Formats: sequence, structure tokens, C-alpha cells
Amino acid sequence: MPVWIPNDGRYDTMPYRRCGRSGLKLPLLSLGLWHNFGGVDRAEDARALVRRAFDIGITHFDLANNYGPPPGSAEETFGALLRTDLVDHRDELIISTKAGYLMWPGPYGEWGSRKYLVASVDQSLKRMGLDYVDIFYSHRFDPDTPLEETMGVLDHIVRSGRALYAGISNYPADHTRRAATILRELGTPCLIHQAVYNMFNRWIEGDLLTTLEQEGMGCIVFSPLAQGMLTDRYLHGIPGDSRAGKPHGFLRPEHITEEKLARVRLLGNVAASRGQSIAQMALAWVLRHSAVTSAVIGASSVKQIEDNVAIIPRLEFSADELHRINEILR
Ligand SMILES: NC(=O)c1ccc[n+]([C@@H]2O[C@H](COP(=O)([O-])OP(=O)(O)OC[C@H]3O[C@@H](n4cnc5c(N)ncnc54)[C@H](OP(=O)(O)O)[C@@H]3O)[C@@H](O)[C@H]2O)c1
Repeated sequence: MPVWIPNDGRYDTMPYRRCGRSGLKLPLLSLGLWHNFGGVDRAEDARALVRRAFDIGITHFDLANNYGPPPGSAEETFGALLRTDLVDHRDELIISTKAGYLMWPGPYGEWGSRKYLVASVDQSLKRMGLDYVDIFYSHRFDPDTPLEETMGVLDHIVRSGRALYAGISNYPADHTRRAATILRELGTPCLIHQAVYNMFNRWIEGDLLTTLEQEGMGCIVFSPLAQGMLTDRYLHGIPGDSRAGKPHGFLRPEHITEEKLARVRLLGNVAASRGQSIAQMALAWVLRHSAVTSAVIGASSVKQIEDNVAIIPRLEFSADELHRINEILR
């Protein structure tokens, strides 16, 4: 008997965009488990977030070997939810994981070797209790391992049935192009690139987005809210329950500068004129490119997920709004 029955209307409002030239569609918003799903967090809160996300059409859950803390614990938390709440819904889910950053000591615990990536995906599958993940990513470009080796192992991981699709994350445009060529020649096209993109970090607007369009790859953008800075969260100080307020959060108080807050306040005026919150406008803004398949958000409350999904009817920008935003971000 499943412990939870999801909402019947869960596919009624969420748009799904095709991922590059693949057969796979991803929801406009995906949920990332980088923060708030670790061993330090309350399992009941994690459960509420995953349930609400799935209930409103978020079919894609994004993980990595090192998410926690401690590293690995977000996969364990998600694995427990897969065995209980989501047990009857595996075929409705796109579950991704990654390897690239430090996971265990010694020379085989990070980067892009065949040794590390195969061991890591096997550990991830065990932690989540899965036979396969939908997308497996090389989490970062490794300057010391031949790209042929790293892409060869992504192809191997797909062919061995451990993953359905291969992806790369944080690769610069030139290495992305080479990676795409190698994978295409191996017969496992590169599905997707996961890259940071938000109003404070526009690097993908350089060469990357064009490269992805030319290569037929999808793009899923992470930290679209700049880890919470592009919201009203920090306008009146640093709340104790916020990412910057917690001892283990990656956003540190020194990142929240007066200069950034001043811009956020100005962005708030544009958002208000659109009838949106700052967070909602920031999400709609990253999704304005047709080359962006999905934005992977984080959340610490069910309300944040609901507020973020409420962008769906208001995604377009006028030329004047884009101009005002550009002026603020200059
Ligand atoms: N590939 C990579 O290298 C990489 C790197 C980083 C992240 N990622 C992926 O991207 C995912 C998302 O990253 P992120 O968590 O940094 O994304 P984000 O969406 O930029 O930030 C999420 C944080 O913003 C705050 N927030 C969200 N909605 C809000 C709202 N409506 N109003 C006010 N505050 C709101 C929450 O902060 P509080 O917790 O303070 O409430 C939440 O934890 C990760 O979970 C991970 O899957 C990938």
C-alpha cells in the first residue's frame, strides 16, 4: 500500500520543454536537492518538499554524489522517499545525479577518470536504491584527464544501463563542443548541460547558449535565484533559518553585499510593476531563452515552491522591462 497518493491534476498546468533535440521533456522548473535534504535536515521537511513538487508537475529531481551534508546523505534521503512515497511513480520521474567534486579521500575520489565516475555512479545507485538514474553528469571539466576518457565513461555508464542519458555540468563552451562531438561519435549524444545562470551571473550568454543550440543539447540552469539573493529573503538582514544564516550553507553572509541588495531592491520595482515577486521575475527571466529547457530551483519550504511555480502564466517580458533590468544589472 503506498503511503501517499499524489494529486490527480499534477500534469494540468506545468509546461514541459523538449531538451535540445532529444526525445526527453523536462518541466519548466525542476527541484534540486543540494541544500535542505541532507542528514542535518529534518526528513519530514524533505518529504513535504518532494511531495508538493511532484504534486504540481515537477517531475525532475536533481542530485549529486556530494549533496548533503554529510556528502551522500541527500541521495539517501531521496532514496528513502522513493521507497515510500514515490514507489509507484518511478516511470514518471527524471532523477539525475553527478560526480566530479571530492567525494572520498585518495586519488580516485574526484574529477573525471573512469575509475572515479564508475565507482561514484554505483555508490549513488546504491544510496538511492535505484537500478538506473535518468541523467548522469560529469559535474565539472577535468583539465588533467583526457576528455575522451571522461566522455568514454559517460557512454559506458549509459550502455551498461546505469543511466539513460549523459550530461555535463560547468564545462566552458569550447570543451562543451568537443565533449558533444566525442559523445556523438560514440553514439551517446550529450543530452544536456547544467550551468549556473541568474541575473548576477550571465556567463552562459557568451558562447555557451549558442553552442548548445548548435549541438542540439538542452540547458538546465542552476541557482536561478543566486541561492536566494534574488528574492526578498535578505532585504532586512540575514534570517537564522536562511541558507546564509545556517553554518553549512554554501551562501555565506559576506556574499550578500550592500551593492547586491541595492540592485535587488531596484529589481523589486520592476517585478512589482509586472505583478510578481523578485523571485518570480528572476525565474521568468532565466527561462526567457528558448535554449533554456528548465531552471533547477532549491527550496526550504513548500510555500517557496508554490510561489515559484506561480510564474507559469507570466513568463513573457516586454522590451522595456528587459531594458530596465539590463540597466539595473550593468
Ligand atoms: N551543477 C552544479 O555545479 C550545481 C551547483 C549548484 C546547484 N546545482 C543544482 O541547482 C539546484 C538549485 O540551486 P540553488 O538551491 O542554489 O537554487 P536557487 O533557486 O538559486 O536558490 C534556492 C534558495 O533560494 C531561496 N528561495 C527559493 N524560492 C524562494 C522564494 N520564492 N522566496 C524567497 N526565497 C526563496 C531558498 O533559500 P533559503 O534556504 O534561505 O530559504 C532556497 O533554498 C541545486 O539544488 C542543485 O540541484 C548544481
